[in-house]
Amino acid sequence: MKLLLVVGARPNFMKAAPILKALREFPEVRSLLVHTGQHYDFSMSQAFFRDLELPAPDEHLGAGSGSHGEQTARVMSAFEPILARERPDGVIVVGDVNSTLACTLSAVKLHVPVAHVEAGLRSFDRSMPEEVNRLVTDALASLLLTPSEDADAHLLAEGVPAERIHRVGNVMIDSLLASLPRARALGRPAALGLVPRRYAVLTMHRPSNVDEPEVLRRLLGGLARVAREAPVLFPVHPRTRRSIEEVAGAGLRPLPEASGSLPQGLYGSEPMGYLDFLGLVAEAGVVLTDSGGLQEETTALGVPCVTMREGTERPVTVTTGTNTLVGTDPERLVATALEALAGRGKRGAVPLLWDGRSAERIARILRRGMSL
Ligand code: UD1
Repeated sequence: MKLLLVVGARPNFMKAAPILKALREFPEVRSLLVHTGQHYDFSMSQAFFRDLELPAPDEHLGAGSGSHGEQTARVMSAFEPILARERPDGVIVVGDVNSTLACTLSAVKLHVPVAHVEAGLRSFDRSMPEEVNRLVTDALASLLLTPSEDADAHLLAEGVPAERIHRVGNVMIDSLLASLPRARALGRPAALGLVPRRYAVLTMHRPSNVDEPEVLRRLLGGLARVAREAPVLFPVHPRTRRSIEEVAGAGLRPLPEASGSLPQGLYGSEPMGYLDFLGLVAEAGVVLTDSGGLQEETTALGVPCVTMREGTERPVTVTTGTNTLVGTDPERLVATALEALAGRGKRGAVPLLWDGRSAERIARILRRGMSL
């Protein structure tokens, strides 16, 4: 049996790594790793291969950046000949990025069945490109591997036959649990002179937040107020770097390599590798974000999370976990963040099946084969 596992953008790597490892336990399954090249900077791609001990991809499509149409089309045209040559028994896609959608379309049109890992998530907001990617991928996939109960319910409501849906848990948490000891051993918070639980970590890259100068300015205003009370560490996504340069007075200082004691302030840096970042998040007092994955990682770590979005496709992080949605209202952002930094942040529990064994479950299901 031959399977192609697709990765393209930063949040795919931590989902694919445990799946590849689990698949390679089965000698009868030949698994090839395909990197579409949607993300290509060292800090957005190779750093994750290094930290997650992912082998070099068997195929690299070199798709790169572009508009949605250009990027999707480039991935499709580059993936099609690989499908034709390798004639796999199935393609595995993860998450909701443009590469997920593009490779699903290419595979299904050539009659190759697709398994979608992290199926069934819905924000019910079609202005998010990821929501469109999720809807199309789930409509075409043969096997829908879900992280939580709400995901199963969405798929059933959309008419997906129950026998195609398998709840396997959250595979990204497999990587988190496996990597946490190494991340802690790096000692990054201590090297920066940070007091555990008395600093914040910030990420921001949603087009709806960073491509709208008005929204970005409003959010930065709130973030500056949090940064007056505590150090706020902000690894800046390439998309955000472009737009932030246009907002005068963002007040970003460069994050030093080391410090005896880091004073309050907003500290910008390049995007960080997986282990460095995980080590910082694990000891943070609060995480401020608009990312999808980080809402889940903070729930798994028990760190309060303040999400700068109106809704979430990961509601279990709010109902069970440590996540609070504040939209783009700076007052709510500041109040929730400062409560958490004072030790009164939201507590939660870890959802069922976020237990570090999802990849094992996924590999066992995939090994049984797929049909269109
Ligand atoms: C993509 C995903 C998003 C995910 C995010 C994580 C889609 C539609 N979006 O968004 O769901 O949360 O990745 O990072 O697939 N760039 C670089 N270097 C890189 C990659 C990108 O400089 O290695 C810059 C380019 O200017 C590019 C821009 O970032 O145009 C956006 O990259 P793109 O992959 O289109 O979308 P993301 O915003 O990264």
